Amino acid sequence: MSTLEESLELFPENQPIFKQFLPTITRLNDSTPIINEWDIPSTIKQLSYFVHSHYRYYGKFPSAVAGQILEQFPSPSEEHYVLDNFCGSGTTLVEAKLRGIKSYGLDISWLSVLASNVKVTTVDIANIKKELNELVSWFENNKSSFNVPEIDFTKKWFEDMASRDLLVIQQYLLTLDKSTIRDFLIVAFIGIVRRVSKAHNGEVRPHINKKKKQRDVISAFSKKVNDMCSDHDDFQKNILETSSECCLGDNLNLPEKFDDGKCYLVISHPPYLNSFNYAPVFNLEFYWGQVFEDEYTQGNSKLYKTEMKAHPANESIQGRYFNHLKSCYEEVFKIQNQGGVLAVVIGDCTRNGKLVPVLKKTIDIVESIGYKLEELNYRTTHYGLGKYAYNHRADYHGDQEEKKDGILIFKKP
Ligand SMILES: C[S@@+](CC[C@H](N)C(=O)[O-])C[C@H]1O[C@@H](n2cnc3c(N)ncnc32)[C@H](O)[C@@H]1O
Repeated sequence: MSTLEESLELFPENQPIFKQFLPTITRLNDSTPIINEWDIPSTIKQLSYFVHSHYRYYGKFPSAVAGQILEQFPSPSEEHYVLDNFCGSGTTLVEAKLRGIKSYGLDISWLSVLASNVKVTTVDIANIKKELNELVSWFENNKSSFNVPEIDFTKKWFEDMASRDLLVIQQYLLTLDKSTIRDFLIVAFIGIVRRVSKAHNGEVRPHINKKKKQRDVISAFSKKVNDMCSDHDDFQKNILETSSECCLGDNLNLPEKFDDGKCYLVISHPPYLNSFNYAPVFNLEFYWGQVFEDEYTQGNSKLYKTEMKAHPANESIQGRYFNHLKSCYEEVFKIQNQGGVLAVVIGDCTRNGKLVPVLKKTIDIVESIGYKLEELNYRTTHYGLGKYAYNHRADYHGDQEEKKDGILIFKKP
């Protein structure tokens, strides 16, 4: 071992940042499947290094979860790749890029696909700042010629001045040619919508916050772009050369390109049963993003409405939820070779006060397809979570013993 490697081992804080917050793993049994506890003591801020904070995504997993899975299962070759078939905001793609692992994501929401792709795409930071300056001076020169939109939806969710200013920025972005710079700016634009609305920032599904102080839209936008630039710059200095791409699609029908025998690992984080559905949560963002929908979806702009439903977990939704899991992992089984790994990040929930053993049910479903459970990892985190979204699901603090969050590791025999 070299002196540098020795010193890194002695002083974990000298590790690259994405290795500093990996879970502490405790083995809980001696038999098969292995049972571990993965404890993640870090704060959300610590886990949001580099581009992870580009886009606030409700319901993402801690970066350290994807990081730990990728550490455990290194890619066998440069051509092999990890696939995240519920990609969300691209946490897996970012962690894979930091480790030089080729990656693909798939999500049914074009906003998620765009945000994920912006995170992992190399951009010229100086050109983004130049474009931002032009946008801001155009905004100042032209804002007075725009009227406040007289639309019930905007009146309900935004102060008049905020809607007018969002409209001005949106119209400027529409005039730009398609480019990585424009994609970056659109993600920043979508990224401030909740903050400049009348809704609570922290609650998952939008609700009016009567006490909310109005933020100036153009300064919020400029700050967002500048913060993203600085995080992106740091990220670009730390990544290894490899490709990453998020695709728009429904994981019930995997695109043919994944049928190439090169997918060695699938990381999969479905919506949590009885927690929330994604489309209503991003209602405000979809509203301001709708002018861009067609170009990012090639006409399939309402695909996100057919997302896997997870809430409320009545008989019918619960049944469809588990059927969806079965069908989407059958798709994954088809594209993986013998030895392929499937890591499912999922949690138990309660319904009418009673436990729904989602982990156990998922194990049964995935094993019925032909996978074998190798590891059952229980996850604990210590940061606070909004009680609004998490009332019904696994309790991270362990005070409700029977409900668990898990990382299930399966192998194709
Ligand atoms: C729990 S989130 C994943 C979050 C992700 N791990 C992250 O860190 O950002 C689940 C995602 O599944 C997506 N989704 C729901 N139904 C889907 C489907 N049928 N096909 C593909 N993605 C779907 C949602 O749009 C949402 O982004």
